[in-house]
Amino acid sequence: MSDKATLEINGEKYEFPIKIGTENEVAIDIKSLRGSTNGVITIDPGYKNTGSCESAITFLDGEKGILRYRGYSIEELAEKADFLEVVYLLIFGELPTQDQLDKFESDIKERSMVDDDVKKILDAFPKSAHPMGVLSSLTSALTAFYPSSVDVNSEDDMYNAIVRILAKFPILVAWTMRKKHGLPLEYGDDNLGYVENVLKMMFKKPSSDYEQNPILVNALDKLLILHADHEQNCSTSTVRIAGSSHAGLFVSLASGISALWGPLHGGANQAVLEMLEAIKQDGGDTKKYMAKAKDKNDPFRLMGFGHRVYKNFDPRAKIIKKAADEVLNDLGVEDPILDIAKGLEKEALEDPYFVDRKLYPNVDFYSGIIYRAMGIPVEMFTVMFALGRLPGWIAQWREMRMRNEPIGRPRQLYIGATHRPFKSIEKR
Ligand code: SDX
Repeated sequence: MSDKATLEINGEKYEFPIKIGTENEVAIDIKSLRGSTNGVITIDPGYKNTGSCESAITFLDGEKGILRYRGYSIEELAEKADFLEVVYLLIFGELPTQDQLDKFESDIKERSMVDDDVKKILDAFPKSAHPMGVLSSLTSALTAFYPSSVDVNSEDDMYNAIVRILAKFPILVAWTMRKKHGLPLEYGDDNLGYVENVLKMMFKKPSSDYEQNPILVNALDKLLILHADHEQNCSTSTVRIAGSSHAGLFVSLASGISALWGPLHGGANQAVLEMLEAIKQDGGDTKKYMAKAKDKNDPFRLMGFGHRVYKNFDPRAKIIKKAADEVLNDLGVEDPILDIAKGLEKEALEDPYFVDRKLYPNVDFYSGIIYRAMGIPVEMFTVMFALGRLPGWIAQWREMRMRNEPIGRPRQLYIGATHRPFKSIEKR
């Protein structure tokens, strides 16, 4: 492989360095393009062919269906690690020793309180507010209560900001759900683990103790691991570009939550369940929905299918599909929606429209079926995605700031009106 790429424009040749990643991916470094060609830029809507950064956090190979966090396969981590270990791995780069994990967990527990005045902001929202909008607002509001911006040159400052948000975010997640359902706001219990705490804060009834169900704990732990990071996806890129202006960690995360909300991204898990419900109401007529998904005049898409990077099975979807069977079986839940999902998947994987476009089930296709079996309301599904993605956003924000990356400011190709003189209103 040559270490240079050559571009010819109007008979002039320009050379650009080639960079090779640790997984032998190849990138053309065009940092000098505009300067050396008197203003020429590239254009790539949606950044389908454009790398925004070099990163050591997550590797994925969309053609082979490979996903690794810091070199560890998602299959091994989902099976052998717990969520807090994966949080530590993503953020600090190594799996923690028992002592490191114990300290990490206790540092988080020390901060598992939220200023009571945050409840006043929550109270101001109508019950009809979508939880993702509430969560994004409350996350941004945390800056008002914990104003210390992160001095990225101080390891302590960075660490304290990280354990602070890891401690408070699950409380905001639980409060967002309880507010919508008119339930009193609960705190966790420092004697519980991270995921057990989330479940208790979400589901504890005011009149009784909350009894942990290991099936739910294991299912949620695995789902959070599977959602924890995914390199430069839409919401992570949003967190990085917001943070590149040196905006604080909490507000950068709030911007990521907003980006994740979109139905083409994390909002798809809610849209999948709504789609499957609609098919069920329609008597299970999957063929009608397949036809709609293929009809270019119909904006309907088969939610939970397709992916910008995976042109093979999303490895997370495989794990979640298997977990869905296990969790529903363990809980003794019969959900016809699961059968409809499997039927839809089978049809799509045999349909030339989907096969030709390499559209496979993605992480969102089966996850909602498990969330629903766990008793999580459908409008909370994307909030659960955000809870899982929190460590990935933090890790990527930290990497970007520690590497002192420049502020993100893309160029454009102007296609509007050329210069013209002002026209008075009488002449318009
Ligand atoms: C996530 O990036 C990440 O890593 C994201 C994520 C993460 O962990 O952060 O993995 C999480 O966001 C998963 C994706 C969840 N979204 C959905 O399930 C929504 C449905 N999927 C699509 O909207 C779509 O597949 C995207 C948005 C996921 C990807 O869109 P792309 O890469 O821009 O692809 P495209 O829109 O250019 O589609 C290529 C072709 C088009 O047809 P043609 O113009 O070639 O004829 O495939 C078609 C599309 O119309 N197509 C679909 C389809 N997805 C793509 N047709 C019907 N149903 C679909 N779901």
